[in-house]
Amino acid sequence: METKLVTGNLAELETECLIAIVLDHGEKQENAAKLATKDPAIEKAAGELISSGEITGKAFETVLLHHPAGMKAKRLLVVGAGKAKTFGSAEVRKAAGTAVRYLRSKMIKSCAFALPELPSGADDAARVIVEGAYVADFDPDTYRTDRKDFSMKEVAIAAQPAANNTKLQQAIDQARTIAESQNFTRELVNEPSNRLTPTILAERAREMCAKVGLKCEVMGPDKIKELKMGAFWSVSQGSDEEPRLIVMRYEPEGAPEKPVLGLVGKGITFDTGGISIKPADGMEKMKYDMAGGAAMIGAMRAIALLKPKVRVIGIVCASENMPSGKAQKPGDVQIAMSGKSIEIINTDAEGRLVLADGLHYARQLGCTHLIDAATLTGACVVALGMVNAGVFANEDEIYQPQALQRSGEKFWRLPLDAEYLDQIRSSIADIMNTGGRWGGASTAAMFLKEFVADTPWIHLDIAGVAWMEETKSWMAKGPSGIAVRSLVEWVKTFEKQ
Ligand code: BES
Ligand code: MN
Ligand code: ZN
Repeated sequence: METKLVTGNLAELETECLIAIVLDHGEKQENAAKLATKDPAIEKAAGELISSGEITGKAFETVLLHHPAGMKAKRLLVVGAGKAKTFGSAEVRKAAGTAVRYLRSKMIKSCAFALPELPSGADDAARVIVEGAYVADFDPDTYRTDRKDFSMKEVAIAAQPAANNTKLQQAIDQARTIAESQNFTRELVNEPSNRLTPTILAERAREMCAKVGLKCEVMGPDKIKELKMGAFWSVSQGSDEEPRLIVMRYEPEGAPEKPVLGLVGKGITFDTGGISIKPADGMEKMKYDMAGGAAMIGAMRAIALLKPKVRVIGIVCASENMPSGKAQKPGDVQIAMSGKSIEIINTDAEGRLVLADGLHYARQLGCTHLIDAATLTGACVVALGMVNAGVFANEDEIYQPQALQRSGEKFWRLPLDAEYLDQIRSSIADIMNTGGRWGGASTAAMFLKEFVADTPWIHLDIAGVAWMEETKSWMAKGPSGIAVRSLVEWVKTFEKQ
């Protein structure tokens, strides 16, 4: 898909379909819908549609008009974006995605968006439209032999003649980079475990790094053992597939020595549970247990292309979690790279084991700030459902709600009180890898906290939101690519410091 910026009179714009957003102003009168773009030509062409009450502005309703009166566009698609009061960039992103998916289903291959008025400005409107459009243009049906090409070929952003084109073009280009990186992550997450082993995941990361100019180092079992990553290795030891430790480095010229940001991802390409094996029902989903690692690979791609002036190291601990004669067993004691001893209570709590060594290694490489993403706990899904991801932070300053907000991805902060540590104390070792039934998302996060020491750190538990069970009007079901956009925004906040 290509994007372009066009300026000028909307009535004169030649396009397969012009898209305009309407909002529900919710007054008690019947025709409460109002256009979010003040443009006389669209107001005229959509006038009767709105005054008749056929469109109300309700979120994501769509009406398609042919030959809109007085306009050169072949069609006019009017998309609702909900209540005017709650209207913001997140709604524009979803409305844009809804429009693209609607038009794709009709095999319409190009379109143009009239920029809506947002308090955050025209650049921000262009940014979220482009993000929404690219994310909408992804389908998970990779291996269907009857796969049809619905893809959109071109999306134009139609701005006012007086607009600042340089800034708009920059916003469009950056949004494209971020959204394409998110889709790259989604491709990786979508792959089944027979087609995306730790070795293949590392190859994909290496290819990506070569394309965008990142340094990439990939380590196998010998190096993992040499580094004394006993926690990471304990998860891998039961599998015939070799583990991979993937390290991607972004070291821009002229960036200060510090900070060094560490992005650490859980890359379990399949989680059977190991000897503490999972029930068969739904186990196929555990191919997406590498979504945190894939988010780091996607984020590193975006960072390499956006070139912020800050050092970033991406680390992915990639492994399968399998039962076998070589697999670790409940009761085993493992020594992590940091030297801490871990009693394995449940081999299905493997994500925290690989991350323990990944986080420690990131500190050893000189990272001054850490963020991890992992499909870590079912408990987080129980707490927050499939709406919010969990976010934990060991200090308030590093927790950047604005960055997470700008991405439009939803996170809810969960607690990390010292008391949770009591639940994971072991009588034979320093800690246990599970803390019983209650507060499972927090005890898992507490386990990770033991390996970050005093380094400022954020943990994202994305178990509930990395895979979408239902298709939305703006996005296909399947891998969501969650966290890529937030990670990029988070990294950008350090550039300004
Ligand atoms: N990968 C799972 C967590 C998960 C659950 C991801 C649902 C996506 C959807 C993780 O490795 C796991 O198995 N966690 C266990 C931990 C328990 C044994 C303490 C869980 O949450 O049940
Ligand atoms: Mn598990
Ligand atoms: Zn897992």
